[in-house]
Amino acid sequence: MKAMSAFTKPSVVLPDGFVLRADLSRAATPTLLRQRPIHRWFWFPHSYSPELVEAILEAWDLPPGSRLLDPFCGAGTTLLVARERGFPAAGVDLSPLAVLASRAKTRWPGSSEGILSSLQRLRRVVSQQLRVFRRRALFRPVSPPSPRLARAFTPIEWAALSVLREWILQLPPSFERDLLWLALLRILPRFSRASGDGGWLRWVERPEATPEQILSAFEEEIRRFTEDLEWRARHPVPPARVSVHRMDARRIHRLPRMFDAVITSPPYPNRHDYTRIFHIELLFMGCREEDILRLRRESLRSHVEARGLDLTPEGYLPPSRLQAYLNDLKDLDPRVPRMVAGYFEDLFWVLRGARQILNPGARLALVVGNARYGGQILPADELMVEIGEQAGYRFEGAWVIRLRGNSAQQMGRYGRLPSRESVVFLKARA
Ligand SMILES: C[S@@+](CC[C@H](N)C(=O)[O-])C[C@H]1O[C@@H](n2cnc3c(N)ncnc32)[C@H](O)[C@@H]1O
Repeated sequence: MKAMSAFTKPSVVLPDGFVLRADLSRAATPTLLRQRPIHRWFWFPHSYSPELVEAILEAWDLPPGSRLLDPFCGAGTTLLVARERGFPAAGVDLSPLAVLASRAKTRWPGSSEGILSSLQRLRRVVSQQLRVFRRRALFRPVSPPSPRLARAFTPIEWAALSVLREWILQLPPSFERDLLWLALLRILPRFSRASGDGGWLRWVERPEATPEQILSAFEEEIRRFTEDLEWRARHPVPPARVSVHRMDARRIHRLPRMFDAVITSPPYPNRHDYTRIFHIELLFMGCREEDILRLRRESLRSHVEARGLDLTPEGYLPPSRLQAYLNDLKDLDPRVPRMVAGYFEDLFWVLRGARQILNPGARLALVVGNARYGGQILPADELMVEIGEQAGYRFEGAWVIRLRGNSAQQMGRYGRLPSRESVVFLKARA
């Protein structure tokens, strides 16, 4: 790895091999992502910004053609940077929303001419269709198809959203269709009475929107997307294929290809549940309540409702520090220590599965956040080092990119203790 600049504050004591990279603290969040063309089409509350992926790639200096993998691709930040830099890449995520966002953001046509003709088609079809919808003038109220959607949207709002939805759904699969879908999903929070705020869903009051406001918001979103694509056509990049798979990262060994590097961020063990934050979007995409419940149970054990796979993690020995931590949580809700133990077992599965599809010497950058339970910091970054070593990797160092406050509950009860967000670097043993 190339030498890295360390911004070490003398007051912060870090574990061996860890250096402070406070220069990357904004890149640990989606703040910078929101200013970058295409990246800004969609993000998760816990997405990192492309600048973090770029800093990692710079430190690694991978040979051209290296294949990148992101087993928790979320809104596709790693995949999009890979495509921008000409690296072939594959992404995996359990959520259909993450898969759609990652696909729409990474699969623009390979040449500038291709992008421009796709834009022409898109603009023509959108303006024709919106003209038809506007000519209908009166949208008749339609009851949303589920109680939760009925709480989020009024029948008149649903009438406008569902004409757009039905129209897009009947289009043949294509890059343009993904883009239209994403644009429509992107405007939902502007009208929904369910607000995905700080990791949880909150119900809010909102005046009823008119169908014209909804159509205009969609048109405006498409205009923004197409401007970004025009920019891309003016700044071509070498072609590189990006594939996106809806699958469980714990079964990643089933991917058919071999990879040279992984840049990823698993959910943090902080109890946030993406199926709750994006409940409305998932229902809008056609998931039923029971599908969403299944998704919640199947997700990595970073929240208490996840169940874990029925597999015995052969070769995994929970690190002694983890055992000691779990013993200290004895007085808490028993679901919390069960979740914490399951979280690291799940990560072991992911790392061991990844080992089977990584070339020897492949590099991994894992963006992880520590959490705090019962007043004690859970050092997820250091535990990741131990688990990585058990799964067949060598620890190469870590960057501490952010020192965060704790949850209001933990701070109120036990005081503030900075909690690290780190990039842990591992290398696949030969
Ligand atoms: C922290 S987010 C990733 C954010 C991403 N780095 C970005 O920049 O947008 C974690 C992702 O893990 C996904 N996830 C949770 N459990 C999973 C599992 N078992 N297999 C695959 N993906 C999973 C979630 O759906 C979510 O998209």
